[in-house]
Amino acid sequence: MITIISASNRPENLSQHIAGFLARETEARGIEYRMLDLQKLPPELMSPGSYASKPAEFQPFQKAVLKARGIIMVLPEYNGSFPGIAKYFVDMLQFPESLSGVPSAFVGLAAGRWGGLRAVEQMEMVFQYRKAHLYGNRVFLPAVPKLLDDSGTLTDQETRDRLLQFLDGFLGFARALAG
Ligand SMILES: Cc1cc2nc3c(=O)[nH]c(=O)nc-3n(C[C@H](O)[C@H](O)[C@H](O)COP(=O)(O)O)c2cc1C
Repeated sequence: MITIISASNRPENLSQHIAGFLARETEARGIEYRMLDLQKLPPELMSPGSYASKPAEFQPFQKAVLKARGIIMVLPEYNGSFPGIAKYFVDMLQFPESLSGVPSAFVGLAAGRWGGLRAVEQMEMVFQYRKAHLYGNRVFLPAVPKLLDDSGTLTDQETRDRLLQFLDGFLGFARALAG
């Protein structure tokens, strides 16, 4: 099972549309997936008490990470880094088993010209710390609002092609590591 994380909780965020595209393409290849949309994290998770005890509604998120044979995180750039919710999500995962040994890949996106490069490289350091197996190819999407139409459909053909090449490469990487 491949777990796809849409790592923005901003209302009407664009990450969810990129994640949705990858999810549909994963399914089209006959591969099971789970979508984790960080907009849907339970609000109680934000309570300081969550460091000690997680709300029951967080369990589906935790399970989807523990069961994943591969993780793709779609990550926007906020202030030259990733959104705080993305790091908080990782901080809430069971330590040390979550992410450890899991093939993991990143798609960065940004309104600006660097396409989430900084967000991805900083999150790769976090995943590396948690002993994930990082996939070397990344996709960066600059000026992301121009790549989608009003309904969130990815209309830019070059971007679609890049994402599909990335997805197929990553699925092969995850298969190879699974042995
Ligand atoms: C708090 C905040 C900080 C942001 N900082 C940056 C930034 O440093 N560089 C950039 O190119 N875009 C920045 N953006 C724009 C996002 O890249 C843009 O909203 C994009 O749609 C991806 O985020 P989303 O998935 O939340 O929509 C920022 C947006 C927000 C809300």
